[in-house]
Amino acid sequence: MDAGETFHRDTALSWPGVFSGLFRSKPPRPAQYKTYPGAERLTLPPPRYEGLPVETAMRERRSVRNYTREPLTLPQLSQLLYAAQGITGSMHSQPLRSAPSAGALYPFEIYVVAHNVADLERGIYHYAVRAHQLELTASGDFRNHITRAALQQDMLGEADATFVLSAVFDRSRHKYGERGYRYVYMEAGHISQNIYLQAVSLGLGSVGVGAFLDAEVNKLIGADGSKEAAIYLHAVGSR
Ligand SMILES: Cc1cc2nc3c(=O)[nH]c(=O)nc-3n(C[C@H](O)[C@H](O)[C@H](O)COP(=O)(O)O)c2cc1C
Repeated sequence: MDAGETFHRDTALSWPGVFSGLFRSKPPRPAQYKTYPGAERLTLPPPRYEGLPVETAMRERRSVRNYTREPLTLPQLSQLLYAAQGITGSMHSQPLRSAPSAGALYPFEIYVVAHNVADLERGIYHYAVRAHQLELTASGDFRNHITRAALQQDMLGEADATFVLSAVFDRSRHKYGERGYRYVYMEAGHISQNIYLQAVSLGLGSVGVGAFLDAEVNKLIGADGSKEAAIYLHAVGSR
């Protein structure tokens, strides 16, 4: 059996599996929020609540791979991050976000590889969702790194910014065991779709990117590839 079939079989739910799973040990719950205490921080402009009707955004959405190189603005970046993972409400004092998450466990961290954002130093940033802030994790020009990591897909270097959707698996596995892996992949799709539709509403172009060298992207964001790993990339640029 190949790896894909094994994965699907081993993460399938069945009644006996559900019952035995109740007694199977699960990994401890990791911290809900990653933080970079010494990092330079930038508070993002607040999100706005207006734009295209969702029906129009769906109709207009296409994967866009050519960009004008006009810089993204901070309000646009802020809005895209808010669409990806912003806190939009709460239930029993538990913050809830723009994209759905199995058990409201929110396994994803979002990193931004920023090349061309007005008033933002080039570098790699972590999105601190609670404060709606960016934390600078590495400064520099990473256009070549991200392009190479994405199997030389040139649009990654030409986009204004690339979002890296990175999963901390144990946030889901802590509750759902191995099934949690499936949820993580489903959630990446939700987040990416929000970015797609938000980009359309902002008049920007974007494309989801699944073809990348895992180890290289993980290295860029400081993920170990096992407890945390990049799952999906999403490039955004002006059009
Ligand atoms: C999981 C996934 C992975 C993708 N990976 C890439 C990619 O690596 N490179 C790319 O140019 N487009 C990628 N795409 C975009 C698809 O090529 C695109 O969605 C498809 O051609 C349909 O076009 P549309 O998005 O414009 O409707 C990916 C899309 C998905 C959903």
